[in-house]
Amino acid sequence: MIYFAKMIFHLLIYNLILQIALSEPNNYSFPENFIFGVATASYQIEGGWNEGGRTESTWDYQLHKNPDLIVDKSNGDVACDSYHKWKEDVQLIKNLGVNFYRFSISWSRILPQGFKGSEINQEGVTYYNDLIDELVSKGIEPYVTIFHWDTPQALESQGGWLNESIIDDYTYYARVLFTLYGDRVKTWITFNEFHQICEEGYGLAKKAPFENLTGVADYQCGHQALLAHSRAYRIYEQEFKPIQGGNVGVVIDSVYGAPKTDSELDKNAAELQMQFDFGWFFNPIVYGNYPQVMIDRIDELSKREGYNTSRLPKFSDNEIETMKGSFDFLGLNHYTTNLCTLIGSNNFPNPSHARDCSVETSADPSWKPSAASWLWYVPWGMRDVLVWIKEHYNNPPVLITENGWATRGKRLNDTDRIEYIQNYLSEVLKAIYEDNCNVLGYTAWSLMDNFEWTRGYTEKFGLVHVDFNDPNRTRTPRQSYSFYQEIVRTRRLVNK
Ligand SMILES: *[C@@H]1O[C@H](CO)[C@@H](O)[C@H](O)[C@H]1NC(C)=O
Ligand SMILES: *[C@@H]1O[C@H](CO)[C@@H](O)[C@H](O)[C@H]1NC(C)=O
Ligand SMILES: *[C@@H]1O[C@H](CO)[C@@H](O)[C@H](O)[C@H]1NC(C)=O
Ligand SMILES: *[C@@H]1O[C@H](CO)[C@@H](O)[C@H](O)[C@H]1NC(C)=O
Ligand SMILES: *[C@@H]1O[C@H](CO)[C@@H](O)[C@H](O)[C@H]1NC(C)=O
Ligand SMILES: *[C@@H]1O[C@H](CO)[C@@H](O)[C@H](O)[C@H]1NC(C)=O
Repeated sequence: MIYFAKMIFHLLIYNLILQIALSEPNNYSFPENFIFGVATASYQIEGGWNEGGRTESTWDYQLHKNPDLIVDKSNGDVACDSYHKWKEDVQLIKNLGVNFYRFSISWSRILPQGFKGSEINQEGVTYYNDLIDELVSKGIEPYVTIFHWDTPQALESQGGWLNESIIDDYTYYARVLFTLYGDRVKTWITFNEFHQICEEGYGLAKKAPFENLTGVADYQCGHQALLAHSRAYRIYEQEFKPIQGGNVGVVIDSVYGAPKTDSELDKNAAELQMQFDFGWFFNPIVYGNYPQVMIDRIDELSKREGYNTSRLPKFSDNEIETMKGSFDFLGLNHYTTNLCTLIGSNNFPNPSHARDCSVETSADPSWKPSAASWLWYVPWGMRDVLVWIKEHYNNPPVLITENGWATRGKRLNDTDRIEYIQNYLSEVLKAIYEDNCNVLGYTAWSLMDNFEWTRGYTEKFGLVHVDFNDPNRTRTPRQSYSFYQEIVRTRRLVNK
């Protein structure tokens, strides 16, 4: 009798525990291996533009020459002054509790002359050594972006990403970084957002070097950058990975292209838009070449325009082999969604990337706008873009390397940013649990307010506010900082 009573008692306890466990909406818990981080980029935060032997990047050069390029005529000369305040930044990251910090290295701090074979600047090397050591000592993994847009001006004045000799310069630079820091850095990102570098930088004159040869220079830039990426990947794979054991990924940005209506035409438009913006770069990295639809359309339009070769450069068989599968993970920068519909190619300037794609994009009038003109609150786009990637590239490992919301002014009560993070992360969980997407982790953009390119200091993305009028660049955490801290601590979405 006693034996049975004991057994029943145990069963009851067991059931009670089980019930408590089941009553938790465990679909809102993050998987065990899911990692959290925050991100920044060198030109946006460091300042110290001419200190410690650093030379001008294309951004320094352009903005020193023409302040009018930036809405508030500012630049990154001082920015958040992280060149001096990096220890304080690491403490903020430590208090946030995240697993990793994604930052970028300023090429011209390490190699002031930029070129292959040029001298390594010891002061620059020390700056990042100190930063990396501080992170490691506090249990934060350093995730390093090798190139986040700040091409040394010495290289830009030779044509930058339009000159194929930059491929050797870049791989030399990457090898220098693997050698210097690879003992402690186990996660490398070759490039941040090819699309912005090439389309905005060389096609539409919206980012440095502010060139506007769309339909030609953007494709040339993309071609060199993809080749540079794949060569750096192979160098690491063959020479460093066997000893250092790290991973090399690439960051591609995607404004998700959704069909404007349910019509087949709009579905085709959305697919075209995704192939021309995202597939342009990720298709070569996964499958070795540009999306076939891009090759065909640009060949055809180039012919009609009187070119005797396609405006889209071609990869050799060797290049295709080197390119194919040149990633350990995809870094996805995703913020927002556009609606897509087809539009005749004669509505666009001739030639242009926009004409090659011939899709008109818009925002739904019901979408909540942010302080950034291009960024609307569309949480479901996060899930849809993850599913689109899964379906087109055989469910690759995806690390969300940027996601964030823009506000204005000092406002610390950033409930809109909190709502954005909450609901975008909720869609990430749906993609993981309901769609089986292979998502490794999430990175909030950004640790702190910083130099937002042509928007200067007018648009804020920080979990931490930075006072740019204060010579001390005082940092003050916003409510979203505590909110994200709580998600990282509990590993679940709260208030839901
Ligand atoms: C490309 O760069 C090399 C130096 O790396 C330079 O000699 C050459 O003139 C550049 N080409 C153009 C077209 O600027
Ligand atoms: C494109 O750039 C050229 C040279 O920098 C300039 O003369 C021209 O006005 C620009 N065109 C547009 C549409 O911005
Ligand atoms: C077309 O090819 C000829 C020689 O084959 C060349 O001289 C010419 O510059 C080319 N035209 C264009 C637009 O590329
Ligand atoms: C923040 O703002 C929201 C609504 O705008 C308000 O409900 C909340 O009380 C505010 N919280 C603080 C701490 O000011
Ligand atoms: C979690 O479960 C609840 C109830 O079963 C459901 O309504 C919700 O959509 C689920 N959420 C996720 C992210 O799977
Ligand atoms: C700047 O920081 C230093 C040291 O933290 C402090 O002594 C000084 O008062 C600060 N200055 C301003 C303007 O906040």
